[in-house]
Amino acid sequence: RKRVVSGVQPTGAIHLGNYVGAIKNWIALQNSYDTLFFIVDLHAITLPYDTQQFSKATRNTAAIYLACGVDTSKASVFVQSHVRAHVELMWLLSSATPIGWLNRMIQFKEKSHKAGDENVGVALLTYPVLMASDILLYQSDFVPVGEDQKQHLELTRELAERVNYLYGGRKWKKLGERGGAIFKIPEPLIPPAGARVMSLSDGLSKMSKSATSDQSRINLLDPKDEVAQECQDMNWGTFKTLLTDALVDPIQVRHEEIISDPAYLDGVLAEGAMKAAAIADATLNNVYQAMGFLRR
Ligand code: TYM
Repeated sequence: RKRVVSGVQPTGAIHLGNYVGAIKNWIALQNSYDTLFFIVDLHAITLPYDTQQFSKATRNTAAIYLACGVDTSKASVFVQSHVRAHVELMWLLSSATPIGWLNRMIQFKEKSHKAGDENVGVALLTYPVLMASDILLYQSDFVPVGEDQKQHLELTRELAERVNYLYGGRKWKKLGERGGAIFKIPEPLIPPAGARVMSLSDGLSKMSKSATSDQSRINLLDPKDEVAQECQDMNWGTFKTLLTDALVDPIQVRHEEIISDPAYLDGVLAEGAMKAAAIADATLNNVYQAMGFLRR
């Protein structure tokens, strides 16, 4: 079976853009593909974040996946930091990543420009290498994401080709589908509509978790009453309330149920991490071997 992986950061509020651009599309894919959906907590520390709320936000994001219809009898759901191979492979990949590729990333330029060089951690620059690791570890065929992740996917593909070229050698070439057998070359799946849901307050920007105003987005966990008040005097208020009722309400009801049973959620995440680690460790081991490391 072909494999699909994707993830969302547990930072800020998950909003309609995340749903329409990504999570919604996962649901259809889980029936026909081997699917792994992770919460990318390691990516979330690349910008300032709240340590007090961090684990709660991670749980909340996992619960949102399930509330949106991710079916754990089909898909593996896990927390990125629970599978050590992600960080380990990232280090190996980073040795093969030209700094120029990372400097060119639009998201890096935007985010680092806002904060300034002295305030930005190196991890913001190497962020796409970790993302490549998330994808390549699982020999993924498809990665369903929104438009804003397209460039990161392109980097992932180029990096996979480069590692296949640098360390693949003849022995590996025969195995692979497209000339390289260390890594499969993944394809992005960007939805034809909804790949870039725009901000509600600024039609030129995308709906974003990092925008300061909650009024710029529809959060999947927006309390309904609050929403109503907030929209009172706005011309898009009616629209937002209607949409929230129709789409967000059922997700919230399920989210409440799931989050109120931590033992269940922990079980799901533990099982997901175990399944993921088995695949990830096999790939990681191959990479170490191909790169010539002395193995234990
Ligand atoms: P993140 O957490 O910013 O966003 C999660 C998903 O939502 C999509 N998205 C949108 N789609 C449409 N309109 C919008 N306004 C909008 N805003 C966000 C994003 O494209 C994404 O699909 N780097 C990634 C997370 C990641 C990942 C991965 C994804 C880490 N490793 C491996 C796939 C595979 C990110 O920050 O997404």
